[in-house]
Amino acid sequence: MKRTIRPAKTLSGGVEPPGDKSISHRYAMLAALAEGASELRHFAAAADCRSTLDCMKALGAEVKLDKGAARVTGHGLRGLKSTRRALDAGNSGTTMRLLTGILAGQAFTSQLTGDASLQKRPMKRVVGPLREMGADIRAREDNFAPLEIRGGRLHAIQFQMPMASAQVKSAVLLAGLFAEGETSVTEPARTRDHTEIALEEFGAPVEKHGKTIRVRGIGGNNGSLSLQPRSLDIPGDLSSAVFFIAAASILPDSNLLIHNVGLNPTRTAILDVFASMGASLQMLSVRSAHGEIVGDLAVKGASLKGGVIEGQQIPLVIDELPMLAALGPYTELGIEIRDAAELRVKESDRIAALAENLRRMGATVEERPDGLRVEGRHAGTLRGAEIEPHADHRIAMAFAVAALGASGATVIRDADCAGVSYPTFFDDLERVAER
Ligand code: S3P
Repeated sequence: MKRTIRPAKTLSGGVEPPGDKSISHRYAMLAALAEGASELRHFAAAADCRSTLDCMKALGAEVKLDKGAARVTGHGLRGLKSTRRALDAGNSGTTMRLLTGILAGQAFTSQLTGDASLQKRPMKRVVGPLREMGADIRAREDNFAPLEIRGGRLHAIQFQMPMASAQVKSAVLLAGLFAEGETSVTEPARTRDHTEIALEEFGAPVEKHGKTIRVRGIGGNNGSLSLQPRSLDIPGDLSSAVFFIAAASILPDSNLLIHNVGLNPTRTAILDVFASMGASLQMLSVRSAHGEIVGDLAVKGASLKGGVIEGQQIPLVIDELPMLAALGPYTELGIEIRDAAELRVKESDRIAALAENLRRMGATVEERPDGLRVEGRHAGTLRGAEIEPHADHRIAMAFAVAALGASGATVIRDADCAGVSYPTFFDDLERVAER
């Protein structure tokens, strides 16, 4: 389905993004391993998180979705059952990588697959350390889904993670729950810590020292470990809120309130980037919820400076880079992204998709192996164009925002792909856009 986005004058009113995708995946998986019924309120409406719920249901948990809440009943850490059919992670890298960690510790064999995009994304990064723990995992070309995971007894490892990836860290920690001994993961740079927080919330003791996280498993003589069902509120997804922060920032006189947004410090680097570029952002009613931090964000129109995003910042803003790049033409100095080759193996090759669509709108772009440079305002204003998102939700949403400040209408092809993280995105955007 195509969506047409007409230029807007300003953004005003209030909006509430869907529940956080990363947290929803983790709560769904841990609830399915807990002993009893959990209630997960404001569960992400994202198709990706439906994939996780469907997988956990196929593995024997009871799952019900009711008015935005997921009720998940688990049967304990030893309670999962084998499935006849392959488990389907859809478009979701988080589902596939985290679940591989859990399945590695089960006393049965599972097949795990995904859509065409997910079948092209590298899985060796989780298969490698899980094999070190004793798992037997087969992959196409030893790197890609479909995966066959022959679960069994695992032993703890001390894993020095070669890349800054929350998904890899989480896969190893979740496998560590089933291993004999104490598993540790040391990350080269900070990544989102929702797994650590969620494990503690469900009652699995986790130790953190600097960049090392430790968890003890149920293998060997630690049979007393069990996860407790929980009743939890999921904060709104900051990575979804960012599209509204960007849109309000580039449209003069905007005045937008974004309600109930997750403000975990391992996610808020994007707010620092916006602030350093001169955005007008205020955090209001900051509160804590189950180890996570939540608040409202007030955003006003501003003149953005632009700048360079690189190095250790990259893993902390990885999902927001498409939006930042698409903002480049609205900034004074342009936007330059370095050290982000990882963007090439996301839901699409995001560097190529950004360069292609920015050029369609008339921007000046230099594409590089590990990033891109997008010229700022001096290179001219954007014009409406037809956008090809390459089935990537964040590309579709980033260009819908860029379209608001362009001259002439923009058509987003296959706009439904936004539903992977934010099914009501286009309606929410239309509601707050004034023309
Ligand atoms: C995620 C981690 C990030 C991010 C993804 C969600 C998670 O991936 O891009 O959208 O929930 O752990 P990497 O860990 O591969 O960087």
